Amino acid sequence: MSNSLAVVNCAQLVTLAGARRARTGGDLRQLAIIDDGAMFIRGDRIEAAGKRREIEPLITGDCEVIDAGRRVVMPGFVDAHTHPVFAGIRANEFEQRTTGATYREIAARGGGIRATVRATRNASLKDLVKVGKRYADWFLRGGTTTIEAKSGYGLTIEDELKILRAIKQLDEETPLNYVPTFLGAHDIPSEYKTRRHLYVSLVVNEMLPRVAEETLAEYCDVFCEEDVFTTEESWQILSAARCHGLGLRVHADQLSLSGGAKLAAELNATTADHLEHVDAAGIAALKAAQVQPVLLPGSVYALGSNRYPPAREMIDAGLAVVLATDFNPGSSPTPSMPMVLSLACTQMKMTPGEAISASTINAAYSLGRGDEIGSLEKGKRADFVIHDCRDYRELAYFFGIEHAWRVYVSGELACQKPDR
Ligand code: NIG
Ligand code: FE
Repeated sequence: MSNSLAVVNCAQLVTLAGARRARTGGDLRQLAIIDDGAMFIRGDRIEAAGKRREIEPLITGDCEVIDAGRRVVMPGFVDAHTHPVFAGIRANEFEQRTTGATYREIAARGGGIRATVRATRNASLKDLVKVGKRYADWFLRGGTTTIEAKSGYGLTIEDELKILRAIKQLDEETPLNYVPTFLGAHDIPSEYKTRRHLYVSLVVNEMLPRVAEETLAEYCDVFCEEDVFTTEESWQILSAARCHGLGLRVHADQLSLSGGAKLAAELNATTADHLEHVDAAGIAALKAAQVQPVLLPGSVYALGSNRYPPAREMIDAGLAVVLATDFNPGSSPTPSMPMVLSLACTQMKMTPGEAISASTINAAYSLGRGDEIGSLEKGKRADFVIHDCRDYRELAYFFGIEHAWRVYVSGELACQKPDR
């Protein structure tokens, strides 16, 4: 393979170039689009992105040239909230919800997260990597090149480590990039139901030290919710995680206003995720502490709810919003960022431009990778997608189809749609 690569003939090169920070307010709509753009890549890095006439002189004989065929070229999506390693599926619960059962009722009778925990405990590392590769392929096909990946379906030391090791192996063995998060506090396992304080101690005193010692996670997350972990328990776990050098993310105010956003702000967490029930005080607290909200409309949709997080209020308050899939076998069985863009525009009234900033550059900053990915700028990793459309707004407008035509990670072709 030649060491240099040029992408030419882009109808729109959506660079998202701009200030080196997460975007807020009106900046969310500034995508820095270059019409008739082109890009020059050396090795795994972008060397230049600009007008065709600026890039053409850089193209030498040994350079591989990709003709984008007047399509849209964009950074790969960065999906900043996923649960991609689990065994089994929960189509039975999906069916039960169609006849009136709620997510919480199903969980209260031993289904939900606990059902996936049982299946995942019974799976080997090899099994998990095998199914994980199938899902990695789904992410890539949708145009996603980096995902944040949570554990949380093991809930014993060995099973949580098994999931984190599977994430590491998937990162090494697939073109998709994974950012690992320890979510040992995803649920109280049934064997600790009447001794929940002992489970919190297990997470704090045994799981976190092992995860940190083996450097298996960059972040720690907690499902802070009425029937799951209280704000006090979440505080204990997240404070301990911080002492081990982990960044903090919180499942906050998803099913009720349980104080997760305020907690995330108090702890200066990197993100507060979900926020379907957040109130004005919670939004103000996130703003004061510069916590990024990660909005997950796929889970609202798949649970058949219409309570979407108040994205417009958050944008008006100056928050650097992020959009992600929440891919998991219960509340959000989709790896599709284009589907999330459609929901963000139709249900949360974000503009297509805001939705793209939220799912690329802002997501990259929320994972501590704002200098590495999320835009097409000199020096960044060449993670980009050629989408089969002429106008970036089509990504949110035509929904339920796969737009990605060619997906590149580190300057190498990771996935392609057959030409018809
Ligand atoms: O983000 N809320 C907690 N965790 C997931 C659901 C996990 C599951 O149902 O398996 C979520 O929605
Ligand atoms: Fe989640």
